[in-house]
Amino acid sequence: MYLVMMGVQGAGKGTQAAVLKDRLNIPHITSGGLFRAMKDQDTPLARQVQDIMARGDLVPDDVTIQIVRERITQPDAKAGFILDGFPRTRPQAEALDALMADLGQRLTAVVFLSISDEEAVERISGRQQCSLDEKHIYHKLYNPPQVAGVCDIDGGKLFTREDDQPESVRKRIASFHEKTRPLLDYYAEQGLLVEVSADKPIEEVTEGVLRVLESR
Ligand code: AP5
Repeated sequence: MYLVMMGVQGAGKGTQAAVLKDRLNIPHITSGGLFRAMKDQDTPLARQVQDIMARGDLVPDDVTIQIVRERITQPDAKAGFILDGFPRTRPQAEALDALMADLGQRLTAVVFLSISDEEAVERISGRQQCSLDEKHIYHKLYNPPQVAGVCDIDGGKLFTREDDQPESVRKRIASFHEKTRPLLDYYAEQGLLVEVSADKPIEEVTEGVLRVLESR
């Protein structure tokens, strides 16, 4: 199964993908995570990417496409993947189509998690992630860890992402509406788009996603 998760920043793409990867037994590939993993590299490109992310801007398409292509073509993604945060622009969506054609595959579905911008801001302002594995995601109110500041899964210290500052969040949400939202039409025209209301508790959203996938 080849899935793309879409939604405004804070809709819960990472949260849902972390659960779905185990239920569907396919890897969770997050473009933001691939970029954040570059932070320890001492290269001009890695430094440029970290600056872009901290500002809440998009990394250039050519860099993004190359990094995602390298990850998608790894052996563990052969039988499927959950893409989170990619594509975000029309050139990225077209590059993904071309890559899937090269692999002799087709996307199974594009899942759009819908919430309001107000709810998105609320969620991002309370988000905490694990320093040992950033795919372990918490929220101070909606999904708190058992011990404040400590990951339930591996005991890692929780931190707030550098780009979760209000100015950067506003920019990322505006960029979603300008550059990424038009992709919903792109995928609807291909018959791939399914919408799931994400304005519900995490487990209910997961069940909603699994229901729409089963019905396809
Ligand atoms: P990226 O890492 O992709 O971040 P994002 O798109 O800003 O998405 P988020 O991680 O903020 O949101 P999410 O939907 O995953 O929410 P989450 O599950 O954490 O990108 C970061 C940066 O990298 C970009 O700004 C850009 O610079 C660069 N980049 C990445 N991809 C790129 C691309 N393709 N092209 C160019 N540049 C790119 O949930 C949020 C919070 O809500 C959590 O606290 C969670 O616990 C809580 N929550 C989740 N679901 C629920 C629920 N149902 N009820 C209550 N709380 C919930």
